[in-house]
Amino acid sequence: MTTTTDDSAELRAQLVDRLVGDDLLHEPRWREAFRAIPREVLVDRFAVHDPATGRHTHHDPTVDRASALAAVYSDVALLTQLDSGGTATSSSTAPSLMALMLERLDARPGHRVLEIGTGTGYNAALLCHGLGDHAVTSIDIDPGLVAQARARLAELGYGPHLVVGDGALGVPAPDQYDRIIATCGLARVPEAWPAQVCEGGVILVNLGFALARLTVAADRSACGRFTDYASFMRRRTDTGETAPTVHDILTAADRDGATYQAPFPSFLKERPLQCLHAIVHSHVHKVMVHSDEGDLYVLSNPGTGSWARARLGPDGQATVVHGGLGDLWGDLVGLAAWWDDLGRPEPTRFGLTVSSDGTHTLWLDQPDRAVMHLPTVDLTQ
Ligand SMILES: C[S@@+](CC[C@H](N)C(=O)[O-])C[C@H]1O[C@@H](n2cnc3c(N)ncnc32)[C@H](O)[C@@H]1O
Repeated sequence: MTTTTDDSAELRAQLVDRLVGDDLLHEPRWREAFRAIPREVLVDRFAVHDPATGRHTHHDPTVDRASALAAVYSDVALLTQLDSGGTATSSSTAPSLMALMLERLDARPGHRVLEIGTGTGYNAALLCHGLGDHAVTSIDIDPGLVAQARARLAELGYGPHLVVGDGALGVPAPDQYDRIIATCGLARVPEAWPAQVCEGGVILVNLGFALARLTVAADRSACGRFTDYASFMRRRTDTGETAPTVHDILTAADRDGATYQAPFPSFLKERPLQCLHAIVHSHVHKVMVHSDEGDLYVLSNPGTGSWARARLGPDGQATVVHGGLGDLWGDLVGLAAWWDDLGRPEPTRFGLTVSSDGTHTLWLDQPDRAVMHLPTVDLTQ
């Protein structure tokens, strides 16, 4: 039974009971860590996003401790830093996703773990609690966040090795890591990572809207399945950049361009296809607008300046207007047809092999059934 309380230990115990009850937390090591670590020490003011309204609710524990604590121990991401457009640039991930990832990571005592994306330091604290400080290295691109996390972790008695830098380069160390866990989303697995992980070690990373769990082989290739749907804020290359907002994406595609009529496959909105599209065409942002005039689909690639908008007509056809390099709508519809031909598999039937030369090959069901080489992405940008 859930009781109302502003007692942190009681709220932590309730959170653990919920995660266990939802079949997300099994390993005693992580149960104890969630029970022991007061998440509120690692965050101060934060916002919670409401997907139903698209709005943020702001919390300040110095103003209303009880409601802030209730949010801290509900299963939501706490947005701890926003850019000028209101998009989160750091957060403490929802506990259910953290629990799932810690269990997927399968890090055990004696393992060395590199976390990409220190953020608040909460996940680093869980790792330290479960494996010991000496086992944990964590990197964030944002120096302010690292300094804050370092101080707050010390307050709780934890001292992992914290580094400021671009996690895509990893953190070179004399001994290789047994595990890399990335808590920001990436377009591709950076070349540096397999080289820094021991043979048999694991890389757990969010690509598009899915988690990939890859095992590193002796030749520095990495291979494994997509295990779950998950979406993290994207890796930044510069702490000053702002992420495109929905308004930016709609504006980018609100102009004259080449026009044609094309099919609008009825299954275009299906989650597995959206997930695959985000993996394959990782720099393309999508917005869908429902209106009486017919659903509008807007695609934009800020890196290349390409854009497309497609409006569904009553005849089931789309009127497509697009500009810039290539045809973003054509890419999406082509991928949809390909996925349909394969029998519309769920993302968990796909896996990925990252060769030692960085080639990313998507396979279906088993590694010897390659179905696509993913387009190359320049991770230095
Ligand atoms: C979802 S938050 C991480 C949550 C964190 N693990 C926690 O427990 O609070 C994502 C973090 O990734 C960081 N990040 C973004 N780009 C990065 C990069 N290139 N290298 C390292 N960290 C990066 C952000 O600054 C942000 O703090």
